[in-house]
Amino acid sequence: MFASRDEHAVFGHPSFPCYRIGSIAQELRFAAVPLRDRLHWNVDDLLDAVTPDTKLLFVANPNNPTGSYIAKGELERLLRSLPDRVLAVIDEAYVEYADAEDFAPATELRNTRERLAILRTFSKAYGLAALRVGYVIGTRELITHLNRLRAPFNVGTLGQVAAKAALADDAHLRASVEATVRDRAKLAQALEAAGLRVAPSQANFLLVDVQRPGRAVYEALLHEGVIVRAMPEPLRSWIRVTVGKPEQNKRFLDSLERVLRESRV
Ligand SMILES: Cc1ncc(COP(=O)(O)O)c(C=O)c1O
Repeated sequence: MFASRDEHAVFGHPSFPCYRIGSIAQELRFAAVPLRDRLHWNVDDLLDAVTPDTKLLFVANPNNPTGSYIAKGELERLLRSLPDRVLAVIDEAYVEYADAEDFAPATELRNTRERLAILRTFSKAYGLAALRVGYVIGTRELITHLNRLRAPFNVGTLGQVAAKAALADDAHLRASVEATVRDRAKLAQALEAAGLRVAPSQANFLLVDVQRPGRAVYEALLHEGVIVRAMPEPLRSWIRVTVGKPEQNKRFLDSLERVLRESRV
């Protein structure tokens, strides 16, 4: 809807792969802007990648797979500095898990620009990924444009019923997020105690440098019945692990320790 062939999109790298896939599918040109030290957003790098043809900018905040975020002041600077023609898409799939003091959801910055789309999902903190429900927050005009292209029946009845019930159950959301945030810190501590580098995370997963090919560690863990994600360049020595229930986190830690100790990879 917002960019046509040969126009331009900007997004980070490494970040959620759908921005690249969507740009390729729409035959856009794009800049995949390297994150600093592979992990951290830099607003000037994003702004420098904007060209006269740029129509879209995608930022996952917090980011997948790094768990890193853009602080409120920097996000505000980005949103104010982008040319008016650019639609800024702030993907807040993991927003519920962000607890850093200087983090702010983009909903607090809606007065910064007209062209702003904030994406939210029920797939993460609400645990409803299989129901395929999410939403976008934007101006009435933006939503009207999106509705012209959106498939008319794209959210099923079960998804709508579940989403409404989920929005009404604050206590469950709070308990679930609190447990994840608490166990994220514990899991990070345990991994660091084992001598591994862990990227600071504002999401429901951790990115861990296993100091050997992540793909081999992924496969060895798979044999133990533990599923993590191996990462593409520039994170070949890293794996991403979702924070699970305490017993799952323990099982992951035990299996990882065994796999690394026995030098199976
Ligand atoms: C940043 C980001 N946005 C969106 C999604 C997907 O969300 P949904 O399940 O609503 O399509 C993911 C999940 O992997 C993600 O990491």
